[in-house]
Formats: sequence, C-alpha cells, structure tokens
Amino acid sequence: MIKGFVFALSALAGSAFAAGGPGVPLDSIDVDPRDKPSLQRGMSTFNQYCLGCHSMEFQRYERTATDLEIPAKLMEAHVVPAHHKIGDQQTIAMPSDAAAEWFGAPPPDLSLITRKRGNDWVYTYLKTFYTDPTRPLGVNNLVFEKVGMPHVLQPLQGEQRLVCTNAPVKENGVVQTDPLTGNPILADQCGVLEVVEGTGQLSAEEYDQVIYDLVNYMAYVAEPSRVSAERIGIYVLLFLFVFGIIGYLLKREYWKDIH
Ligand code: HEC
Repeated sequence: MIKGFVFALSALAGSAFAAGGPGVPLDSIDVDPRDKPSLQRGMSTFNQYCLGCHSMEFQRYERTATDLEIPAKLMEAHVVPAHHKIGDQQTIAMPSDAAAEWFGAPPPDLSLITRKRGNDWVYTYLKTFYTDPTRPLGVNNLVFEKVGMPHVLQPLQGEQRLVCTNAPVKENGVVQTDPLTGNPILADQCGVLEVVEGTGQLSAEEYDQVIYDLVNYMAYVAEPSRVSAERIGIYVLLFLFVFGIIGYLLKREYWKDIH
C-alpha cells in the first residue's frame, strides 16, 4: 500500500519533469496494446537496437511471448539470447559502472520508462536526436539536453540537423494553415529539424512507424496487464449489473407483505 503510494508519487513527479526541454512541444502518440503486429515489430526493434545497453528487468521473455502471441519455440529460436532461457528476465550483461564511465551515465532499465517519462516524451525523444559536434558522441537531443546516449537508430533515420530554413509554422506541434487557402503557413525559422537527404535507410514516414511500434511496445511492457485488466473490468461491471437486478428483485420479494 505504502509502496504503491510512493510509486504513484514518483510517477507524478516523473510526469512533472517529463515536459522535456523548455518550450519543446512533444509529439503525441496514441498507443494501442491490442495491435499485436505493431508490438511484435516494436519488440524486434528493441531487441536489435536497445537491449544491448538497456535491460527490461521487470519483463520475462515468456510473458512477452504469451501476450504477443508468439509461439514459445519461435521466441526461443529467434528472440531469447543464447545465454538466456525463455523464463528469464530481460537483463543485460553490461556492467552499469563501466557503462556510466563510457557514456557519462548508465543506460537505465527501460521496463517502466513510459510511466516515468510519459509515452509522448519517449516518442519525441527517439525522433529528435540531432548532430552536435560539441558533444562527445556528436549528437544531442531536443528533449534531453546533453544526452549521453548515441543515436543508435541513425542508420535508419539518417543524419538529422538543426537548421534555419523556411518551414511550416507549428504551434504546440500542430502545423498552422492559412484559413483561406488551407495551405501550411511558411516562415523563416531556426531550430528546425531536417534529415540530410540520402543518409537514412527509411523515409520519414517509415521511421515514424518504427518509432511508433517501439514506443507502443515499451508502453505495453510498462503495463503488461492493461488489456486483461480492461477485459476483467467489463466482466466486473456486468456482474454488478446482473447482481444489482437480482438484489432488487429479492428486495421486492422480501418486502412485498410488509406495509
Ligand atoms: C550504446 C548504448 C545504448 C543503446 C544501444 C541505447 N541506449 Fe538509450 N541510453 C543510453 C544511455 C547511456 C542513456 C543515459 C543518457 C543520459 O542519462 O545522459 C540512455 C537513455 C535512454 C532514455 C532516457 C532514459 C531517462 O533517463 O529517462 C531512453 C528513453 C532510451 N535511452 C531509450 C533507448 C531506446 C528505445 C534504444 C533503442 C532504440 C536505446 N535507448 C539504445 C545508452 C544506450
């Protein structure tokens, strides 16, 4: 109970600073824990690009396989690392003190990251790495200033730069349009993110989809029982409704002869 309370408090504190760098509007994401293909793609991206540095210790491979409807044999053959069993938690071998020395900060466990930072923050974070030669790893991030993580998805997204250009005006992340013509309003602005053409394997839309699936997966791991909790919730309400009717009829029966 107390633990739950402390957790709720820390989650609140988390969302308070989850707003990111000053004035940076977050892109919003509508996660869907029922979209199994998206979760499976997200898992595959996570295991390929993130699990080397970040553990997900609260999640066992087996639970993921069951929830995402991946046959255990396939999971063991293609997902679970050789030195792990399917019932194991998703830990990593990288010692965190050495990692802290390499990156300036240890890569944190990501089991609950979307609860700590919020889905929108994580979604925006993964899309706003940009080249910054003043940083040790050559990259910085719009919502995580002086970030210690390399842009591991750069081969997919391409090299992104902060430039001054004539670009659509956005307010709170929404492109503003001319009310008469319906065209986006353009203006000279600085601090606009632009991918250097031909440097990434994916188009902007394809990269967005990869990040959508990845964050969808992380949001699922942060709350793996959400789908079943919602289903049970419906049964509970149905039960209360039916029981309410029976209770009412019973009451009428008991009180029928008392005037
Ligand atoms: C080479 C190691 C490495 C890889 C691979 C890596 N990260 Fe990181 N990540 C880090 C480090 C180090 C930090 C801590 C940065 C800091 O505190 O400055 C970090 C921080 C983060 C954070 C912010 C955590 C916080 O403090 O709130 C998120 C979210 C994150 N990583 C997601 C990912 C995802 C998703 C992937 C896979 C696409 C990934 N990382 C791959 C090293 C890595």
